[in-house]
Amino acid sequence: MQPRRLTLALTVACAFSLPAAAGTVEVLHWWTSGGEAKSAAELKKMIEARGHTWKDFAVAGGGGDNAMTVLKTRVVSGNPPVAAQVKGPAIQEWAAEGVLANLDAVSAAEKWDTLLPPVVANVMKYKGHYVAVPVNVHRVNWMWANPEVFKKVGVEPPKSWDEFDAVATKIEKAGFIAVAHGGQPWQDNTVFESVALGIGGAAYYNKAFVKLEPAAINSPTTIKAFDTLRMVRKHMDKDMPGRDWNLATAMVINGKAAMQFMGDWAKGEFAAAGKVPGKDYLCLAAPGTANAFTFNVDSFIVFAQKNKDMKPASDFASTILSTPFQEVFNQNKGSIPVRLGHDMSKFDDCAKKSAADFVASNKSASLVPSFAHQMAQPSAAQGAIQDVVSSFMNSNMTSKEAVAKLLEAAKKK
Ligand code: BGC
Repeated sequence: MQPRRLTLALTVACAFSLPAAAGTVEVLHWWTSGGEAKSAAELKKMIEARGHTWKDFAVAGGGGDNAMTVLKTRVVSGNPPVAAQVKGPAIQEWAAEGVLANLDAVSAAEKWDTLLPPVVANVMKYKGHYVAVPVNVHRVNWMWANPEVFKKVGVEPPKSWDEFDAVATKIEKAGFIAVAHGGQPWQDNTVFESVALGIGGAAYYNKAFVKLEPAAINSPTTIKAFDTLRMVRKHMDKDMPGRDWNLATAMVINGKAAMQFMGDWAKGEFAAAGKVPGKDYLCLAAPGTANAFTFNVDSFIVFAQKNKDMKPASDFASTILSTPFQEVFNQNKGSIPVRLGHDMSKFDDCAKKSAADFVASNKSASLVPSFAHQMAQPSAAQGAIQDVVSSFMNSNMTSKEAVAKLLEAAKKK
């Protein structure tokens, strides 16, 4: 069973027992790597500065699959935290269960409608009411590269998937691992997403992976995307099964591997290791995706509490959208602020590039939601797609078979 599927027994969920005491902000999240934990610590600090007690509810596991399973259990047992890290269409699913608080008072007082890009604000609302607060904008279609390794091998980082095979082969011949990867379903899906975008472009990506149009899925482009994923898979090392994403990032940091395909939370790891972009590492668009941007917006839903005391929750939401929090959190996290017009002068070059590309890709209709990071599909379809991609990566399934399975998965929408 997919951990993210929300098959909540509502009758149980409605019978909330003891809520968290007023003044205690219990927050479920999955930010446990070095860079992530540093970022979460900033949130804790600012919540405490408002006089509340922070109760950390961290569930390890990149991408949040484990966290979603644990969250479901907590809500079904009538004991939800104050807030939980939930993203994309799953916000609507939770809201439809009737278990969320509405954030209208704080969002109106602080004018969220003018602070947030509409593409983000819409996702945070259920039937016109804010039920979630966004934290940041992560970009997923990055390729993290170790320039020293490329220099030693005497090759340039690949700009297209056509070039990729030859470059990766040379890197391996020189004794390095070409692609640092962790064999976990969400990481497999993260790589596939960038491959599909690079092969088919934003318009195709939208049709095939956002709208799930059968004609776009059942096309030579999707076959080529799976063929390409198979080729990339060949350039991953044998120890990849189960490896956490941050350990894969560490392989690029310490020069064991040349590249990693991962969202810019990976930058949080480089930053925590004291590495400087442009010098110690490169943030490059994944091959063929330079003009596009796959966005992944972290956000928190807030649960209705039996004692109806909204103060801790609304202070939590208000803190998250405050300029000081956006500034410090996102510098640690690798993302960019979600507030419009945030001053980027203290951010590094990768973040500046991301901020500029976010705006440019929005204008050119190549700003697309990350399906690997729960931004494009309801949880059942998202989980089913992830299963197909991951079983393709870990078996001899042909590209044609994968397309057929993808068509089935799309029916879950
Ligand atoms: C989240 C990030 C997180 C990453 C790895 C993504 O889905 O959006 O905030 O750092 O997973 O855990």
